Amino acid sequence: MSSASDPISNLEDSDKKYLWHPFTQMKEWAEEQPVVIAEGEGCFLTDINGKRYLDGVSSLWVNIHGHCKKEINDAIKAQLDKIAHSTLLGLSNVPAIQLAERLVKLLHQLGANNPQAVLLSRVFYSDNGSTTVEVGLKMAFQYWRQKGTSGKNSFLSLNNAYHGDTIGAVSVGGVDIFHSTFGPLLFKSFKAPSPYCYRCELARDYPECGLACLRAMEDILKKHSGDIAALIIEPLVQAAGGMIVSPPGYLSGVRELCSKYDVLMIADEVATGFGRTGRMFACEHESVVPDIICISKGLTGGYLPLAATIATEEVYAAFLGDFKDLKTFFHGHSYTGNPLGCAASLACLDIFEKEKVIEGLMPKTELLGERLHVISGMAHVGNVRYRGLMAGIELVRDKATKEPYAWEDKTGWQVALKMRDKGVLIRPLGNVIVLMPPLSISLKDLGWMLDITRESIEEVLHE
Ligand SMILES: Cc1ncc(COP(=O)(O)O)c(C=O)c1O
Repeated sequence: MSSASDPISNLEDSDKKYLWHPFTQMKEWAEEQPVVIAEGEGCFLTDINGKRYLDGVSSLWVNIHGHCKKEINDAIKAQLDKIAHSTLLGLSNVPAIQLAERLVKLLHQLGANNPQAVLLSRVFYSDNGSTTVEVGLKMAFQYWRQKGTSGKNSFLSLNNAYHGDTIGAVSVGGVDIFHSTFGPLLFKSFKAPSPYCYRCELARDYPECGLACLRAMEDILKKHSGDIAALIIEPLVQAAGGMIVSPPGYLSGVRELCSKYDVLMIADEVATGFGRTGRMFACEHESVVPDIICISKGLTGGYLPLAATIATEEVYAAFLGDFKDLKTFFHGHSYTGNPLGCAASLACLDIFEKEKVIEGLMPKTELLGERLHVISGMAHVGNVRYRGLMAGIELVRDKATKEPYAWEDKTGWQVALKMRDKGVLIRPLGNVIVLMPPLSISLKDLGWMLDITRESIEEVLHE
């Protein structure tokens, strides 16, 4: 039993007194017992009371190789003894250069089966998923101006898209519950249907539809491509929109449309990058090379906030000119190219190679698929979807009619809290239970997490 004078209850009280948590109704938070994490080791987190939890959400989709990974710890410590931070505005630094070269070489994989592809070749650093998207949008916008093409002042994005919380990223977002409040502040973006087959906006069925959502996208491009600088998309999985997995051929179809209608393609791989979908980047699954790619989250293995926006040489070349031409990309952040983050990222990429992480994912993905198949048979599970180690389980009130639970019932949260009691931390998206463990999870722990998921759904929804 903790008392007001012990350090644990002091921490809990101080949290409630001083902190404002993101995406959290603080009135409810004040009435709950917070979980305060003190340590992490591998795929497990330990709270200040000593209770261990499996990190089923990879600390918000960032952790890749587990917590306290020796090689990453050592790389950060070694860099710390040299320098923690120095700016990229007018200067350079060693790990930022090394990482840029490494990323460009890695991204050349995307063009491996596509000899015509214009490869991604220039790395622009920022700090997080939202800023890498802001950079991508501004780059695309300025690119057309400098090419002498006027009128391309808008963007095309998807319903159910999530690209971050800054105003530009929200403008191309499509999750009403997060984004509608800010409507009056946002710039114009055209919206294409989400490739959400379970609840198709066009009321069609896959595969008989022949990807009707792509044709709807083409209709927008036919009419408005002169207004559109770029299309932005989360390749293969619309993650925060509810782990919506697009059907085969959709992503490569989007690439073709962008080329046909002369609109840049921005791939937001903030959530899908670094092995989450079973390949290093989701675009690899359909041999797609975007004009601009946005990466963050897993870039440092989940250690430090770092992001990069990587453009093709074609995009980059439009920014070259004499100083007086004002073609400079006027964008940058104080911590751009932070050496500690870059050092962590280099160590993270070494681990991918040394431990053959991507090659080792197959049995985990298979186990996930088998167990999800069983879960899909449960009475209140409407749809399960997954790609690699990203999975969503959509809970429904009525399986036959697909009637959802009312969002204010917080059904997903009830299941998540049950899972928390049993030792697994996840964060649902409305009625969708999201499973996204670190790639380093063992088969045993993955199986256990899926057992807990099934049991918790059963107990909460009285199967
Ligand atoms: C696809 C995608 N883009 C951008 C972001 C924003 O990243 P951040 O939270 O680091 O700003 C997220 C976050 O979940 C994301 O999933």
